[in-house]
Amino acid sequence: MAGTYVVRTFGCQMNEHDSERIAGLLEADGMTAGADVDSADVVVLNTCCIRENADNKLYGTLGHLKSLKDRRPELEIVVAGCLAQKDRDTIAERAPHVDVVMGTHNVHRAVELLHERRRSDSAVVEILEETVAEDHDLFPSALPVVRRAGYAGWVTIQMGCDNSCAFCIVPAVRGPEISRPFGDIVAEVERAALDGVSEVTLLGQNVNSYGRDLTLRARDGGPETDGVRADPSFVLGPVAAEGDRVRIRPLFADLLRAVGSVPGIRRVRYTSPHPKDLRPETIAAMAEVESVCEHLHLPLQSGSDSILAAMHRGYTAERYLERLDAARRAIPGLAVTTDIIVGFPGETEADAEATLEVAAEARFDGAFTFVYSPRPGTEAAELSDSFIPREVSAARMERLRAVVERSSRLANLSRVGSLEEVLVIGPSRKDPSRLSGRTRQNRLVHFDPVGPVRAGSYVGVEVTDATTTHLRGHMTELLAAPTHRVRIPVAAE
Ligand code: 5AD
Ligand code: SF4
Repeated sequence: MAGTYVVRTFGCQMNEHDSERIAGLLEADGMTAGADVDSADVVVLNTCCIRENADNKLYGTLGHLKSLKDRRPELEIVVAGCLAQKDRDTIAERAPHVDVVMGTHNVHRAVELLHERRRSDSAVVEILEETVAEDHDLFPSALPVVRRAGYAGWVTIQMGCDNSCAFCIVPAVRGPEISRPFGDIVAEVERAALDGVSEVTLLGQNVNSYGRDLTLRARDGGPETDGVRADPSFVLGPVAAEGDRVRIRPLFADLLRAVGSVPGIRRVRYTSPHPKDLRPETIAAMAEVESVCEHLHLPLQSGSDSILAAMHRGYTAERYLERLDAARRAIPGLAVTTDIIVGFPGETEADAEATLEVAAEARFDGAFTFVYSPRPGTEAAELSDSFIPREVSAARMERLRAVVERSSRLANLSRVGSLEEVLVIGPSRKDPSRLSGRTRQNRLVHFDPVGPVRAGSYVGVEVTDATTTHLRGHMTELLAAPTHRVRIPVAAE
């Protein structure tokens, strides 16, 4: 299929990752990346229902695309992602000019569905309820991929979530937790490294329970009936003998060790662990494996024990702080970021105050802060009697931001005078004579380069100055040049 495509991503990293896969599939089908939405033959909107106002943004964009399609009827519009999964029929009703609506479990079908659309008179809507666990090819990472930046890659290690946080739509739209086979993940990272990827980010909703479902399937199934059981080395990764008992479950820590020792991989990141089961083994692997970056994204959500209980988070503030402390003691220089929701239904002034106190004590390097917004179908969305007025949430958010900004500024200032290893992203947006990059702790750095430096290079930067959001400094030396061949601009936004 000739022509050009544009993929616009409205969501989280998971979505960006799916977008890379969709782009890869379209390219494998003969299409090329288009410059913009206005001239593309196929426009894919990859949606996310976690972000606020996701539907307004989607319908706004679809309105713009409608006028384009009136002028160019051959334009094809695909809506993918978790909003599509959730709103399946409404999208086709509200926006009849959409050609394909596909959910989160059929990313691999993007091209086939477009072909199907061309054969039929009406929009094609395909939403699968869940990924077929046995069909490993369905994992997005097993599909062809186009990477936005040739030196960095995301690898899905797990899909879905078995938790039931009261505010969260993920279990409903992404389904139960399914871990990708250990060997597949390592093989993909090896392939990526050969392509020049040097930084890999492992993705999952709850990375610490990685492998739990593999163990259950291996335990429940017999060798004749279950392909998983028949080939344990394929699925289970390292098998550790403990006396005469054998631990068959691959731990996330094993995965960090395996991925971290792939030649060419200089940095391993991951997101996100759940505080209730951040295991000591994971902390130990982070401390021991050199390529695993000193950065932990540990979503707190609230500092109030009663709100944490209402959210079904499974930990108290004290427990969270203990885990954090253990991680910091084991990993020198660890940067910690978090997610916090303000204004969960029933949140009192005292609850909000508790969040401020815990945030101050945790000394976060950064936080994504969200005002609670009800997602239809979640438990908390039923609590409309105790919704918090918008202006109250806004005021609490202000106070929380002030606390987080204080600790992130102090954390950044503590780096002044240090020498950082920086992975170069490209020219600074504000001042193109400078370059921007990220430290191992994921801090943004703007610096003066020495000579021409390509994106994907690792350089040494001496930090001279810091603000709440970034570090500034100058380059001291080139540590490693990139080895990826091309940089392909794919996903707009
Ligand atoms: N309202 C506000 N924030 C939410 N998040 C998830 N669901 C909601 C919601 N209904 C936030 C959580 C999560 C992050 C990805 O998005 O903090 O960790
Ligand atoms: Fe949602 Fe909770 Fe699962 Fe995270 S752990 S994806 S917040 S249900």
